[in-house]
Amino acid sequence: MTAATTAVRRRVRWGFQHGVVGLAVRRAARKGDLQATSIVDPGHRANPYPLYEKVRARGDLVPGRLGHVTVSHDVVNAVLKSDDFRAGPDDAAMPGPLARLVRWSRDPGSLGPIDPPSLLVVEPPDHTRYRRLVSRVFTARAVEALRVRVQAIADELLDGLESTPEVDLVEAYCSQLPVTVITEILGVRPEDRDKVLGFGRDGAPSLDVGLTWKQFESVDIAVRGFQEWLGGHLARLRREPGDDLLSQLVTLEDEGQRLDETELRAVAGLVLAAGFETTVNLLGSGTVLLLEHPDQLALLLDDPSLWPNAVDEILRYEAPVQVTARFALREVQLAGRVVHPGGLVVTMLGGANRDPKVFADPNRFDVTRENAREHLSFSGGRHFCLGAALARLEGEVGLRTLLDRFPDLELAPGRTRRTTRVLRGWETLPVRTNRVLVG
Ligand code: HEM
Repeated sequence: MTAATTAVRRRVRWGFQHGVVGLAVRRAARKGDLQATSIVDPGHRANPYPLYEKVRARGDLVPGRLGHVTVSHDVVNAVLKSDDFRAGPDDAAMPGPLARLVRWSRDPGSLGPIDPPSLLVVEPPDHTRYRRLVSRVFTARAVEALRVRVQAIADELLDGLESTPEVDLVEAYCSQLPVTVITEILGVRPEDRDKVLGFGRDGAPSLDVGLTWKQFESVDIAVRGFQEWLGGHLARLRREPGDDLLSQLVTLEDEGQRLDETELRAVAGLVLAAGFETTVNLLGSGTVLLLEHPDQLALLLDDPSLWPNAVDEILRYEAPVQVTARFALREVQLAGRVVHPGGLVVTMLGGANRDPKVFADPNRFDVTRENAREHLSFSGGRHFCLGAALARLEGEVGLRTLLDRFPDLELAPGRTRRTTRVLRGWETLPVRTNRVLVG
């Protein structure tokens, strides 16, 4: 493909995914549409909860100019589990010439996490085939076997903080723990870790809609760089396979199971990026919540068996992935309304997690909450997070070890939020370790 063709494809892709959508969103936001406001309003990124309550006040399923939106736990759960919806838009349902243009604009060199054939947007039978190949590495039992290694990584990273009075915890710990774990699972060389982190950080807005051309270009550069690096990584594993998950995928003997190069890159890229871009937020938000609620931290220090529940309460209270969406495959009756074929339903996970019909006093952070695990932060149905057990383990080991080893840890001024809308967490998190330095 020539450079000129690549550039035209990129323009067309931006036009479809962001340009047209961005225009519609800005127009709808001016007319007071809540979903559109959630996309354009920077205040919503800082604190999305007031808008969720406005949606809740209007009903379980609220029609808008772009589609329906819901913060009802019942309705979100039903949509995610329903066979009447699919996770990505259906090319086949578009008018022929448009579908052809959309397909043409896709560039295998620039496959993002929500471009097909990413697991996140494909449906059976492809989804079943991809997921079966990777899921055994992430079962609860397989993940529990990683506990000792996760603990060792956490200890090693925290050794590095012993002599540092003030540090950005996101940079030194919250990002490093999950990226180290997932890169080991995927056979990535330690010297490539920082590069992978950089691609993840710069590519994270690819989950958001309505990006400006400038934002889209910089995301595209990151995604392209990531894909190029991934191609090299997979080629290396083909030459020198190890006993990691990706080596197993690239050396699959069975013709019927084997993934082609694009499928392989999509599966590997998503598992790798999803493996750290989300858990970093769990660790960052968890640290802030526990330091801001010393009574809750005291409960955990007193009774460490509460840790797994505390991690679920953190996930409930500050969903690292705030929102996802589904498209109706046919006409659907839902919560007393009709969703037409192709219609969009935006499921606000962070809002469903604060539904008072399910969670008593939902705005209270309570590590002893009995049903904390009923949160929807890992989505539901077919696309339920593949890495949920691993994320819970990293959350538990990562936070417990940090707060056990640094009992005087304190938030320092100046923390900043990530500017992404779908992913919610801290970009920087300065803390004081309050270690007395000897010598
Ligand atoms: C706190 C950490 C995490 C959170 C909150 C989270 C959240 C989610 C959510 C909400 C989805 C589904 C989106 C949808 O339904 O549209 C998802 C899917 C997925 N997650 Fe996670 N995730 C986390 C950690 C991980 C980790 C550690 C991995 C590494 C293996 C991972 C791998 C995946 C994959 C591969 C999918 C796609 C599954 C599918 O579509 O079948 N996630 N995650």
